[in-house]
Amino acid sequence: MLPVLTRSSRLRPILISRHLATVAQASISSSKPEGSIADVFASLSDTNAEPFPARFADLKKKLWKDELLESWRQVLADLNQEVEIIAQKQQEAIPEVAYSDLEKGVSPEKIAEIKKAGSVIVRGGVSKAEALAWKQSVIEYTAANKPLVRGFPADDIQFFELYNSVAQSSARTHRSILRAQEFLLSLWHTSSPASLVSLKTPISYFDRLRIRNPDLNDEWAVRGLGPHIDGGSIEHWEDHNLRKCFKEILEGGSSWRLHDPYDATPRLDAKHDLYGAPNKCSIFRPWQGWTSMSTTGPGEGTLRLLPMLSLATSYMMLRPFFKPTRFISSADGKRAPSLEADDWVPDLEDPEFPGSRLGKTQEMNVDTHPHLQLARAMVSVPTVEPGDQVYWHCDCIHAVESQHKGKGDSSVLYIPAVPLTMYNARYLANQRNAFLHGYPSPDFPGGEGESRFTGRATPEDIKTLAGRRLLGLAPFETPADATEGARKVIEEANKILF
Ligand SMILES: [Fe+2]
Repeated sequence: MLPVLTRSSRLRPILISRHLATVAQASISSSKPEGSIADVFASLSDTNAEPFPARFADLKKKLWKDELLESWRQVLADLNQEVEIIAQKQQEAIPEVAYSDLEKGVSPEKIAEIKKAGSVIVRGGVSKAEALAWKQSVIEYTAANKPLVRGFPADDIQFFELYNSVAQSSARTHRSILRAQEFLLSLWHTSSPASLVSLKTPISYFDRLRIRNPDLNDEWAVRGLGPHIDGGSIEHWEDHNLRKCFKEILEGGSSWRLHDPYDATPRLDAKHDLYGAPNKCSIFRPWQGWTSMSTTGPGEGTLRLLPMLSLATSYMMLRPFFKPTRFISSADGKRAPSLEADDWVPDLEDPEFPGSRLGKTQEMNVDTHPHLQLARAMVSVPTVEPGDQVYWHCDCIHAVESQHKGKGDSSVLYIPAVPLTMYNARYLANQRNAFLHGYPSPDFPGGEGESRFTGRATPEDIKTLAGRRLLGLAPFETPADATEGARKVIEEANKILF
């Protein structure tokens, strides 16, 4: 029988500092309206998108350099090859690492593979029994609070607007998940020792969970989460600081090859949310991730990834500056642009940025980003077992399979890998406050959340010091080899939080 987690039987009082207790009485900063995951996807919500204002054509003109033509040609040539390689490899294009290797040390070859793909599967570490117990606990929690539970689709919830269940708290503070996060953050670096980030200090970012049932009809085929990147759309070009993360790509010629997606320094001041959308991740989140609570394979409603990070990012950044001049009709009568570089020319007059919408996430499809050949190059995550972890870089293009044709549920807890920064420390203070009240986390749709739920998690559920640090419930320690910036940010974070 599975161990069942219930909060009431496991409570043991722990001391919360007086300051923390005071914080718990204050109101939280999030005043976002209620909503669901549908609000952030232009293709999921029913609003008719407004065309981009003319000023966005000016933005293109401001960023344009003639040397970008050469970059475009090079990127298209490389893409052509890489798509073939991934289409051949399929699931093997997504790197995997055994949790035991994380403990022993991952080889430089494997690290290079992970960095190139921008994604990784961590096998083992969390036992199947633990992961299945988390799912059982969630099922009991939602059953006990049924009239109050929110999510998507509203009439048959499978993406749950839950942040504060005991299962989520337990998973977020699990030693093996923390160890995986430490490894993933170690793949990043700073280009200045003064940068205010501690890549050796993971913090928890509360996200939601999914328990997806096999499709009884084609509803998901209509409303699936198509290819996209998290963290802003037009902001990639419009926000001066976010644009700096991609400055080599916009320099022209071969400079795009120097793009370093693992440099944390330019990310720290980047704004991903200029238009105040609900559901957008406002923090610096280097890796999004989930931990599986089911045995789920391709075709069973799982994650799909485009495992070529820098190349896809380079294409995405260059794409708005070009338009096709030649279209080809296929046998079924459909018209599609030629993919030949010679058939594309600069276009600085059109204010549209393909796949971007103000206040929405950046989406990609065969029309907006044809050279990615998403139908061939996106691959479904191979079969995962309960407890396996999957992570993808914040710039990695991903999707959720539109259909679930399996027999069992396809279930995950969203748990990313996030380091301590100044912004993230302030966010953590607000998140902690939301946690103490049972509200949704600050980045997410608001409302009363789980504040009236019975059996939700509390600080008393967090049993380890490492776990309490992750949630901002205990002061951070400074690692011996911390950079100047890391020392400063830990010092400041402790002042903010305690
Ligand atoms: Fe996403």
